[in-house]
Amino acid sequence: MASPKAFLLAILGCAFLFSGALAARALSDDSAMVARHEQWMAQYSRVYKDAAEKARRFEVFKANVKFIESFNAAGNRKFWLGVNQFADLTNDEFRATKTNKGFKPSPMKVPTGFRYENVSIDALPATIDWRTKGAVTPIKDQGQCGCCWAFSAVAATEGIVKISTGKLISLSEQELVDCDVHGEDQGCEGGLMDDAFKFIIKNGGLTTESGYPYTAADDKCKSGSNSAATIKGYEDVPANNEAALMKAVANQPVSVAVDGGDMTFQFYSGGVMTGSCGTDLDHGIAAIGYGKASDGTNYWLMKNSWGTTWGENGYLRMEKDISDKRGMCGLAMEPSYPTK
Ligand SMILES: *[C@@H]1O[C@H](CO)[C@@H](O)[C@H](O)[C@H]1NC(C)=O
Repeated sequence: MASPKAFLLAILGCAFLFSGALAARALSDDSAMVARHEQWMAQYSRVYKDAAEKARRFEVFKANVKFIESFNAAGNRKFWLGVNQFADLTNDEFRATKTNKGFKPSPMKVPTGFRYENVSIDALPATIDWRTKGAVTPIKDQGQCGCCWAFSAVAATEGIVKISTGKLISLSEQELVDCDVHGEDQGCEGGLMDDAFKFIIKNGGLTTESGYPYTAADDKCKSGSNSAATIKGYEDVPANNEAALMKAVANQPVSVAVDGGDMTFQFYSGGVMTGSCGTDLDHGIAAIGYGKASDGTNYWLMKNSWGTTWGENGYLRMEKDISDKRGMCGLAMEPSYPTK
């Protein structure tokens, strides 16, 4: 029979072993995270200049993974996050490299016509996905260049060109980055979709993606490239009016500016993005459809330019018809589209 003293020792010993096991687990958690970081580095071909930089990036990576996992574990969301190519960037760094320099909100908008103003909302299809109509080129990747405005304008232009000519032609963002240096457009330092449309009109069109390939850097304008597609003009969708945006998107892909700086945007991986989001417009994307999710949530279907490892294979769904007239992340504030 064990004495009370032996029993007490056994409990203590057990507690000691237990806390030792906890310490070992914490260590192996960190080593699992180290392994995860290594695997992630390989997946995204990330190389750090020295061990100090790697150690710093590891801490950022770890904090981001924890944020992503706790967001997803909350379980009451309509969308989820993923450990994507931005996982070793702090949110400030992400804003600086991906968005803030990308889109410049228009200081003063000159009102343009809105050709879809008399379209009846009730007559619109319940679902639109311009991909299924062959009006959307594959997802592109702007890389480390703040020229989202060029990708957004090109996506809308590719759409109207396909709709009016029957031909889907991948067009050159780099021609805009290098040659469109008027108005707010400053290559990788940012620009405006409307100014891009103005350039395309004045330039007599845009050349093909393969004819003027993307380099993700500001280069000298290579003039003399042949125009592969033209537009006649552009129009702004009436601001802060999701119904008006729906009329436009039912008819063609539309350039849209959003606040893409939140962590939920940085790590968006799938589902319909809902909830709070900023409205400091800093990123250009393209609305290429809309629909209703299985749980009844209305959404906009957006094409982004951050490669296929971000979002739903490069696409994003954002809640539609919210009470804030500016729309989710300000998407209804400055939409516009080219005309043929
Ligand atoms: C819409 O209808 C009004 C009233 O009939 C008309 O004045 C206006 O020109 C129409 N707009 C367009 C873009 O057709």
